Amino acid sequence: MSKFLIVDDEADLRDILRFVLEAKYKVEILEAGSGEEALEILRQHPDIEMIFSDYGMPNGNGAVVFNYNKNAKNIPFFLFTGATLEDCEGIKDFHKTHIKNCLIGKPFEDDFLFTQIEKAIPNISNDQSLTSTHDYKRLPLDFVAEYVHYSPAVYIKLSDRFIKIFHRGDLQSSDDIKKYLARGEKFCYLQKNDFKEFIFQITDEIQKKVSAKAPTAGSVDKAAMDTALYLQQACKIFGIKEAQQRIIHACVESCVKNLHTPPKLQEFAKDIFTKNNYLGAHSLFSIHISYLISRNLNFDFFGQQLLDKFTFAGILHDISLEEEEYSEIFDTNHPKFAKLTALSKEKLKQHPNESAKLSMEIRNVPQEVATIIREHHERPDGSGFPRGLGANAISLLGAIYIVALKVADFISVRAEALSEESFDNLRLELKSELLQNYYHGQFRKVVDAFLKGIDMY
Ligand SMILES: [Fe+2]
Ligand SMILES: [Fe+2]
Repeated sequence: MSKFLIVDDEADLRDILRFVLEAKYKVEILEAGSGEEALEILRQHPDIEMIFSDYGMPNGNGAVVFNYNKNAKNIPFFLFTGATLEDCEGIKDFHKTHIKNCLIGKPFEDDFLFTQIEKAIPNISNDQSLTSTHDYKRLPLDFVAEYVHYSPAVYIKLSDRFIKIFHRGDLQSSDDIKKYLARGEKFCYLQKNDFKEFIFQITDEIQKKVSAKAPTAGSVDKAAMDTALYLQQACKIFGIKEAQQRIIHACVESCVKNLHTPPKLQEFAKDIFTKNNYLGAHSLFSIHISYLISRNLNFDFFGQQLLDKFTFAGILHDISLEEEEYSEIFDTNHPKFAKLTALSKEKLKQHPNESAKLSMEIRNVPQEVATIIREHHERPDGSGFPRGLGANAISLLGAIYIVALKVADFISVRAEALSEESFDNLRLELKSELLQNYYHGQFRKVVDAFLKGIDMY
């Protein structure tokens, strides 16, 4: 097994590099927090094969380590810096000193780093201990960050391997997770049994969040997003029991109260769609858009319990999905759909029916909710699933919800780049998309109502 030395004064950065290296190779990693410490370790461990060093550090910078190595051992030296070599005072003839020395930018690209390491040590052994994806369940990192005190063992997937980043009990605060978020990681994985336990443990907390006495609009939104994701996971583990029923009702109640103060669409979209909980975000977004459309159709909300219906549909429509990530599959042209097995494709096409059935197990849910859910992947041109209904065979509430989901899908994929100006263009693009593909039969008035409303946001 190769032995590497990582030198960096920031423990977080050492952690990240360690986990990237351990994910890919069978290696033993030693760490130093300063140049001086690095020299000490290099003296004690003559079998170290490579050095990965930061430049700017107190108590001996990267140049100290570089020059010691140059004179004593001259093993491959990888320098991590956001600057250029000329800016690194004390380092001369970097590439001439050893042909395999390498300058790595900060932040570094995993693939570039791996290629350079494999050039330096061609016989380095890859860690072949692959574990199957089926043994793990994916969750958004920022979701887990909210419930860290249950501290399950947490993994990250890297080059098809699952790397344990926290042992059970190690996770102390959400800050522990934030450093992975800052590095661009979006999801983590729990082993199946841990996952079940985790979902069980967070049930009470989800219940508390949705039943908060004096909530803010933001906390209602957040709780609704968490709830949608929680329900999709929990219903597979426990079914819909009393605890889940209470959560659903509390969530609908708080969302409906909140609907009367509509958010500013652009900021709202940017905020919720960048949280990596797509299932929760599109559920919440579709509820707001359904409300906007119904308001412009001059519907009587209270007489028809309309807001309740859309809110139930919003948080329940994808509850039967096999995996949370399949909620992104808006239609069968989605690239994720093509990658599914035949069985998963079939399950996906049936999820509107399955979710509708589950919704009927919940007490006091208005009947039309099942209809809306059953129709949520139908399309006005008849290309949808599971039934391929045409525009006039779809119920009016179903049509409203379908357009709302279309808007959510359309905006979500553009959310990261949303700004005041781009929002104007996006409105035009969305308008032409809706007029082109959704302007059939009774969908016309739904589309018109949406377009009338979007100008106000
Ligand atoms: Fe769906
Ligand atoms: Fe959905």
